[in-house]
Amino acid sequence: MDPNTPLLVYGTAWKKGKTAELTGTAVRSVFAAVDTANYPTACSEPLTGNGIAVALKSGIKRSDLFIQIKFTRVWAHERDKIPFNPDQSIKGQIKESIQQSLEHLHVDYLDALLLHIPFAEDSDNLVGWKVFESFVPLNIRALSVSSFSLAQLEDLYANATIKPSIIQNCFYRETGFDIDLREFCKERGITYHAYWMIKHIPEASTSKLLASVAKKLKVEKELAFYILVVGLGGTQVLDGSAKPERMLRGLKAVNEVFGSRAVLYELQPEIEKFRQLLLELAV
Ligand SMILES: NC(=O)c1ccc[n+]([C@@H]2O[C@H](COP(=O)([O-])OP(=O)(O)OC[C@H]3O[C@@H](n4cnc5c(N)ncnc54)[C@H](OP(=O)(O)O)[C@@H]3O)[C@@H](O)[C@H]2O)c1
Repeated sequence: MDPNTPLLVYGTAWKKGKTAELTGTAVRSVFAAVDTANYPTACSEPLTGNGIAVALKSGIKRSDLFIQIKFTRVWAHERDKIPFNPDQSIKGQIKESIQQSLEHLHVDYLDALLLHIPFAEDSDNLVGWKVFESFVPLNIRALSVSSFSLAQLEDLYANATIKPSIIQNCFYRETGFDIDLREFCKERGITYHAYWMIKHIPEASTSKLLASVAKKLKVEKELAFYILVVGLGGTQVLDGSAKPERMLRGLKAVNEVFGSRAVLYELQPEIEKFRQLLLELAV
């Protein structure tokens, strides 16, 4: 992973009417990467765009900000919230959705486009991917996937001309914490985005390891968790806090650890124990 890659990505989902304000706060104060989706069921892309516009007006450079969007297939949308015309080909849906994202976000390029969830038929993943590829590099810089299994990722990777550069997955027990998938990604330079960690891993958040890392780093255990997940390597964490003070504390804590060789060195035994803990919880 590029050493300048932000380790926390601000997640704009479920912020409703506060999306613009929280996105603007996140970008102006700390976050160099923002995740959104043309998916009105959970995200307001137009409000995310307003927040980004305010931040850019305040002096943040577009080139210092990483904006990633998603195309969400029809099945996942609430029926009355599908933003594009669903009665057209996959190609038409994707083109219309990307055009809308560019308009919502008031930018002329996006840093990454994710296929939000796989299609019902694996073969359609490649059909959609070929449409994605037609937008690179002019409007979209990099292509990525979300909620993919290792088998689906391997299949797409083998057949794609432009290889996926990010996978965004729920980091939880049900998928064995994606241990094999993350290994596949590491070997190919694909960044792993972990989401929904706090809600979905009560066993990890109540573990003694987390409590001891939190004490050592003088942070709350949720942040110790983020730090250990980033410490696995090749990983970024989606932070969707709606509390500005929490956003700031999170980024400060992560940057202090990963910005200091000495602190990171000191943390290696705990990171190794964390790998073990995940192996134990995954079975
Ligand atoms: N690709 C996908 O399908 C997918 C699915 C789900 C999510 N995502 C992405 O992941 C992002 C994050 O998801 P999310 O917003 O549901 O989850 P989240 O960031 O994991 O936050 C979940 C809950 O944890 C709380 N929390 C956050 N930091 C905390 C801390 N330091 N201490 C205690 N509680 C803390 C938050 O409360 P407060 O708000 O009060 O801080 C929030 O209620 C989304 O915005 C989206 O970008 C992607």
